[in-house]
This record gives sequence, C-alpha cells and structure tokens, in this order.
Amino acid sequence: PTFAFEPSTAMVAANERAQRLVNPGFGRVFTDHMALIRYSEDKGWHDAKITARQAVSMDPASSVLHYAQEIFEGLKAYHRPNGGAALFRPEANARRFNDSARRMAMPALPEELFLESIRALVRTEKDWIPDSEDGALYLRPFMFASEVFLGVKPSAEYLYMVIASSVGAYFKGGAPSVSLWVTREYTRAAPGGTGAAKCGGNYATSLIAQAEATRNGCDQVVFLDAVERRWVEELGGMNIFFVFDDGTLVTPPLTGTILPGITRDSLLTLARDQGLTVREEPYSIEQWRADAESGRLTEAFACGTAAVVTPIGSVKSAEGSFSIGGQSAGPLTQRLRANLVDIQRGQAPDPHGWVEKI
Ligand code: PLP
Ligand code: COI
Repeated sequence: PTFAFEPSTAMVAANERAQRLVNPGFGRVFTDHMALIRYSEDKGWHDAKITARQAVSMDPASSVLHYAQEIFEGLKAYHRPNGGAALFRPEANARRFNDSARRMAMPALPEELFLESIRALVRTEKDWIPDSEDGALYLRPFMFASEVFLGVKPSAEYLYMVIASSVGAYFKGGAPSVSLWVTREYTRAAPGGTGAAKCGGNYATSLIAQAEATRNGCDQVVFLDAVERRWVEELGGMNIFFVFDDGTLVTPPLTGTILPGITRDSLLTLARDQGLTVREEPYSIEQWRADAESGRLTEAFACGTAAVVTPIGSVKSAEGSFSIGGQSAGPLTQRLRANLVDIQRGQAPDPHGWVEKI
C-alpha cells in the first residue's frame, strides 16, 4: 500500500518541539501529521494519506455521534540505542483491531494497510520520539462510523486515522506503586458484551467507576466480573497479574470479558521463558485479600502499553483495605518489567521477533 504525502505547512519549530518533549506527560503533546484512510461500501478502503494533523469536520448526523461505532488501538514507537525507531508487535495490534472491528460490525482493515499507516507516520514523525528513559511515541489508530444516517445499522462509511503523541510515564509523580479501588456498584463487561473489544464505549462506561476510585483516594479502579461480582478482571486500561511466594504467577483468563493485552501476552511468554509457572485462571477478590494478609501473595502489578508494568501497592473496597508486599515494585515485577522494556528499547536480544525496526 502507498500513502500519499501532504506535508503540513504549519510544522512546529524544532526548538518549540524540544520544549514540548520535556516532561510530555501522557496524551497531550501531538505531532504535526496523521494518517487517514477512507472507507465506503462501494469503493472499499481508499485515499490513504499522511497529511497535516487537523480537525475533521463531521455532519451532526454522523452515526458515530449517535450509536458509538468506534474502535481504537494503542502502541508505541521507541528510539533504538543506535538511532532509528522500532515498533513492538504491531501485527498483534493489527489483528486485535480487526477483532474489535468484527465485534462492532465494522469493515476489516487489511493488516498490511494498518501496519503501513503506522510505519509511514512514524517515519514522518520520528523527531517527536522523546529521548527520556520512559519516553516513546504513542500511536493511536482508530476507526469510526461516518455515514450521515440515523437508522440503527452498521455505517456504510468509515474513517480510519492514526494520530501520534509524544509521551512519558502514564502515572505521574513517579510513585512506587498505585492504589486500586474495587468497585462493587459498576462492572465493565458482561459475557457476550464488548469487553474483549477495544471500543470507545468500554472506556466511557469505566469513567464513573474511575471517579468512584478517585473519590475514595485511589489511583485506579479494578473491575470484578459481572455475573458473580467476585472474580478480578482488569483495570480500566490495564490487565493484572498476581505473584505468589512460591514464585508462580496468576492472571485472569481471556474469557471474552477482558481485553487480550499484548503486554499481558508478552509477559506470559517472558515468564514462561524463565521457567516460571504462570496460570491463567480466575482469582477472587476474597482470595486476594486472604493471600495478601497471609503473605502468600507477595506482589501484584498492572500492565499495558501506556502503563507498561506498574506495581500495585494497596487495594481498597467498601469492606476495607489491604496492602501488598512492601508497597513498591517487588523483585519479580521489577525483573519482568526490565526484561520487557529492554527488548522493546533494543537493549536486549529479541528472541521472539517482536521488534520491528523502521
Ligand atoms: N485492558 C484494557 C481495558 C486496556 O485498555 C488496555 C490497553 O490497551 C490493556 C488492558 C492492555 O493492553 P495492551 O497490553 O495491549 O496495551
Ligand atoms: C493503552 O495502554 O494503549 C491504553 O489504551 C490504555 C489507556 C490509555 C486507554
């Protein structure tokens, strides 16, 4: 696939860009260009281009504004130690994007088109990758329904876009760990629902629960399953792992109600490479409390593209709170995090062929 190139005529000057790359935070600093591809039922995917990042004008009847047919992805481009840039498992994001598209009755985007949109944008915007230790260019591919029609049916037209954001750590303040709030009132996804799809609606419904977490003095919300309200599922934007005193790990299984995280999958592989036992099995909130209090559970961490690997220090719910280990990154959390980050950043061998240099 070839992308037409329409350079921005209002590029940010180099000195201004350098300033924005100092402590960029997450999702506030955007680059000069974006990728755009149009879809219509009669023409299929067409008009692929890299163009100036600009506003999209939408008819007020565009169906995404009413029925929320929208999906997205998140992946990062990293600096290579010798210059240049690299992506981490972008074909896994391409596959998951199409899994989400299928669930939301949207057209599949050929994987090669997804991958080339990312590569072309990163080549254009490589100067926006921060140099800092945890800096990266966060890529946000997304697709939404753009047909002007109020009937409830899959849209006949879509826009696919990729924007890029220079980012640092997702959690500010450099805290050694995050605190979680267990919501009893809200669930994220039910069997048969959209929990395994990366659709905007899942995040919209998580916000009220996240607000509840904040009100209770916690950093993040953790969701329980919708049926028994017992099994730990995931956070609003991260998967979760538990570490035990015998050196084994547990993470909730992919039963259709949680997002199949690429970080989750990569950590499972790295842990098994090291001979660790990892079980993908349900883990209940009561067991979590009991294991934390008895010391059988020694560490817990959240993981995702944005959050990388983030230690969980304490857990609070209406029943009270408990803390985990030393409330900072435990040894296994630190080791797995370092393994992953070193591969992503080209500082360690890449035995699984996960890194794509561009
Ligand atoms: N779970 C949710 C709900 C997410 O939004 C994310 C972030 O993408 C993840 C888990 C972690 O997925 P990944 O590791 O692919 O970024
Ligand atoms: C990601 O890690 O890519 C996410 O999507 C999490 C959050 C920023 C939505």
